[in-house]
Amino acid sequence: MNDEARPYGGGTSDPALKRVRTRHFQRAKEQGIKITGLTSYDFLSASIFDEAGIDFLLVGDSAGNTVFGYDTTIPVTLDELIPLTAAVVRGASRALVVADMPFGSYENGPDEALRTAIRFMKETGAQAVKLEGGVRSAKQIKRVVRAGIPVMAHVGFTPQSEHGLGGHIIQGRGDDADKLLEDAHAVADAGAFAVVLEMVPSAIADRVTDELSIPTISVGAGPNCDGQLLVWSDWAGMSRGRIPRFVKQYAQIGETLLEAAKSFREEVESGIYPGQEHEYSE
Ligand code: KIV
Repeated sequence: MNDEARPYGGGTSDPALKRVRTRHFQRAKEQGIKITGLTSYDFLSASIFDEAGIDFLLVGDSAGNTVFGYDTTIPVTLDELIPLTAAVVRGASRALVVADMPFGSYENGPDEALRTAIRFMKETGAQAVKLEGGVRSAKQIKRVVRAGIPVMAHVGFTPQSEHGLGGHIIQGRGDDADKLLEDAHAVADAGAFAVVLEMVPSAIADRVTDELSIPTISVGAGPNCDGQLLVWSDWAGMSRGRIPRFVKQYAQIGETLLEAAKSFREEVESGIYPGQEHEYSE
């Protein structure tokens, strides 16, 4: 949401600053104001993204890859995500913080989903939760929302089902478009306040965005969704290896850190660091 159009004050330096709430997502869609989101897994990145005016911070289960070094998001646990989420909450004074429910913490049904959501709300201070799946997760979403906890849904490519989906495959192509639409409607009807569309052809994402009254958040679903979300380590050039086509890298932090670490090593080895200016006198 740009500064002029923000329904709740423009940026963290604005004295009228307020917390972004789920109702602002709805208002943004109605007013055609784009919503911005980044993942965050720690206090420092959260405070920087918050200061930049990013609308929501997702403590994604992508932490399984980016923080814990697992090959997929599947192994990451609720106990691993809770301290990361609490740290992000401490760094965010304006952005809405969304806690991602990890694989194995809601699939067993609405009771399990509610237990997990309650742990996130009580132990971290997050303002919303996210879970994956369309029709298959609608009952869980309904139960959590009924308990007063906002839910961001996630359809299209859902990384926790990577093996079931047969890999990192674009969803909603050809005959699968109807299933995607059905999934999107199911989560909206269940009470989700927004829905992430991941790796979906733009034309299908446009249809979903037109048909749903709740905002759509694109992760590789084209320019016409109501908002855009990226994994911060991809977006900032921290991740090594292959970057998905839909990611635009806004910085090369990984390269900068690599050069800085090399300079530090060389200066220590050659006796340049620490210099006199870094020493304490008696
Ligand atoms: O965990 C995550 O970062 C996500 C986004 C990619 C949507 O779920």
